[in-house]
Amino acid sequence: MKKRIQQLFKKSYKTIENDAFLKRIRATIIGEGMLHEGNIYLMDYAIQHMPDDGIVLEIGSYAGLSTNVLLHLLQKHHKKHTFIGCDAWIYEGFNDHTGNIETHIDGKAEVSRKDYVAYIKTAFINAAQLLHPNAKPFTCHMPSDIFFENWNSKNEFTDVFERTFSIQDTISFCYIDGDHSYEQAKKDFENVAAKLKRNGFILLDDSADYLNFGSKNLIEDIKNDHRFTIIDSNPNYLIQKVN
Ligand SMILES: C[S@@+](CC[C@H](N)C(=O)[O-])C[C@H]1O[C@@H](n2cnc3c(N)ncnc32)[C@H](O)[C@@H]1O
Repeated sequence: MKKRIQQLFKKSYKTIENDAFLKRIRATIIGEGMLHEGNIYLMDYAIQHMPDDGIVLEIGSYAGLSTNVLLHLLQKHHKKHTFIGCDAWIYEGFNDHTGNIETHIDGKAEVSRKDYVAYIKTAFINAAQLLHPNAKPFTCHMPSDIFFENWNSKNEFTDVFERTFSIQDTISFCYIDGDHSYEQAKKDFENVAAKLKRNGFILLDDSADYLNFGSKNLIEDIKNDHRFTIIDSNPNYLIQKVN
């Protein structure tokens, strides 16, 4: 009976156990619904197995939940890779796809989208400053396309902590979690693929088989892409560059 009850509550995906920081983080940072627990398991795998040099990149940071999970795992596994990210900090309304784009947030006419995203960006800065004061992410306020344009032009970046930096290395692991439309997820994927080291990883959020996002359609393309192999789906996909 006990075994049957345990089976009933058993998760259908793999998770990281016995990590007090990870257990607490969902109660600390805004955005808990945005990070599938199975992704954390895949991030842990990628960080442990990625090439020894290179950068870790995140596209889509929101309020810093996945950022601080990644920073924590880098520290836990004694990895010295520089963490770089970008977020456009734009509000995506439930009904934007109809073309009728409001200036306020869903369900609260008195709260402007501008104030909302400023609040989320400030939350990102505060969370990183609180939880990783000595390993702050080099995250920039810009859409991913502009980020790659700047990188390709060897331009200098300024992050949300007002630090300037340039990127000298290629990518060993990237978490793609920005705009989930097929078109943008594909652009992000190709931009990352062009700068990904051999044996480097990409974790594509919302690519699980049961979903209906653009990222899910993109993973169907990637399954036929000879440059990549599927490492795991938990339920989102972790892929590795092999060619
Ligand atoms: C699902 S949230 C990211 C959640 C975050 N990774 C986490 O788990 O805590 C998606 C983020 O992508 C950002 N975004 C949307 N379009 C983008 C683009 N073209 N380039 C960069 N970021 C974008 C949004 O502003 C939003 O903060």
